[in-house]
Amino acid sequence: MKIERTAAAVQQQVKAWRKEGLSVGLVPTMGYLHEGHKSLIDRAVKENDRVVVSDFVNPIQFGPKEDLATYPRDLEADSRLCEAAGADILFAPEPSEMYAEDFSTRVLIEDVSAELCGKSRPGHFSGVGTVVSKLFHIAMPDRAYFGQKDAQQLAVIRRMVRDLNFPLEIVGCPIIREADGLAKSSRNTYLSAEERKAALVLSRSIRLAEEMLQSGEQDGEKILDAMKQLISSEPLAKIDYVEMVSWDAIKIHHQVDGPVLIAIAVYIGKTRLIDNTIFEG
Ligand code: PAJ
Repeated sequence: MKIERTAAAVQQQVKAWRKEGLSVGLVPTMGYLHEGHKSLIDRAVKENDRVVVSDFVNPIQFGPKEDLATYPRDLEADSRLCEAAGADILFAPEPSEMYAEDFSTRVLIEDVSAELCGKSRPGHFSGVGTVVSKLFHIAMPDRAYFGQKDAQQLAVIRRMVRDLNFPLEIVGCPIIREADGLAKSSRNTYLSAEERKAALVLSRSIRLAEEMLQSGEQDGEKILDAMKQLISSEPLAKIDYVEMVSWDAIKIHHQVDGPVLIAIAVYIGKTRLIDNTIFEG
């Protein structure tokens, strides 16, 4: 596996592969890789001849009061994980390689980014759409892999790919969890031992929603109220949002009469965590 620092080097290699008729998979990440990321890389390795993993903490998707400066990084560990998983290139650019000083172009994905994290984090999905567009032009993949952990991000990227005719397939992958249910996340490292226990309230409330959905509950408000009550019973938890939306249009939805996404964002102390479940209806 090669670690590449420049877009040009990746493009040159991928062009050579494509000339040989080899298929290419891309796994975009912000690094500090865990089993969730690894599940995407494993799938990409299975389904493509060559795999590019990008490892870039994208400054333009962070708000001014967010955790850009403290976001965890460990390129050596990431590189070992990617190599062992069978990736061919780890693309780890510096911010200056991705954003020239006079960088002035952004991708705006409206509508599908209006609710949930798009509402709580203004500008976030434009930052994501912009960097992912750049990565698509750099790695020129046949397939790109995204986790359902960030369900709205998956919906936003699918919409962007459709609207802008990117010639590739988006593959959505299931949420990978710790043994006790907590969804794996690079941000879990921020949690103290006490907060780590409190964070279980997210997956417990998602499980509660799944149980209510499976037993036939169709009233979205009832499900959301039960979840809010459970989350509020945890003193270290503060709700950002608990919502039900249509999947994958991401419009607020009150009745379970088709595929829905129930998504939550909860602060545990200062750490903002997200979780969700998709019910196909
Ligand atoms: P990051 O948070 O590093 O996540 C990279 C990919 O891994 C995303 O598609 C995310 O959904 C997936 N992922 C993270 N945790 C997961 C889990 N527990 N189970 C399954 N998949 C999981 O998402 C980003 O980076 C960035 O926004 C990015 C798309 C790279 C653009 O900068």
